[in-house]
Amino acid sequence: MKIIIIYFSLTGNTKKVAEKIYKILKTKGIEVSSFRLPSGEKKSFLRQCFEALVGKTYHIEKTPQIENYNVVFIGSPVWAGKITPIVNSFLKECNLSNKNVFLFTTYGSGFAKSNAMKKFEEIVKEKGGNLIGKIEIQGKKVEQSEDKIKEELEKCLKEL
Ligand SMILES: Cc1cc2nc3c(=O)[nH]c(=O)nc-3n(C[C@H](O)[C@H](O)[C@H](O)COP(=O)(O)O)c2cc1C
Repeated sequence: MKIIIIYFSLTGNTKKVAEKIYKILKTKGIEVSSFRLPSGEKKSFLRQCFEALVGKTYHIEKTPQIENYNVVFIGSPVWAGKITPIVNSFLKECNLSNKNVFLFTTYGSGFAKSNAMKKFEEIVKEKGGNLIGKIEIQGKKVEQSEDKIKEELEKCLKEL
């Protein structure tokens, strides 16, 4: 089984979750790669919220190749109750048919986090992906979340 973890992280929380997932999978002897989607130009908080709200997408110069992977982990911070524009952009361009997909988000206050995950799941299904698991973690609690992440991974790996 080959797994790729694709994520965006502006301030590092989602990156830490991606790293934890990477480490857990590696220790299980699974072949795993990781790809951080680019941040692009700096924008104001309001602009970022606006772009997330309207579902803005960009062309990504260098997209991760997922053809050779059986399982794709996709991670995004929650912005204005949505997933981030860059993750949206990746999803728009990729083909998830026949892929097992695990989603993860990190959030701050928790405002509309379920809304973001719901939309995330809908897009994955529209793109033909088979959702095998998901996890939502508060940014400031990433360090204490290792057991929760492990538990969720074990649940979904058992079924593969
Ligand atoms: C533009 C912007 C909008 C945000 N909107 C929300 C939100 O609607 N709900 C929430 O719970 N957190 C929100 N947050 C907080 C982030 O989701 C949280 O800090 C996340 O862990 C950041 O991930 P990162 O460090 O990987 O970039 C927002 C942060 C930014 C920068």
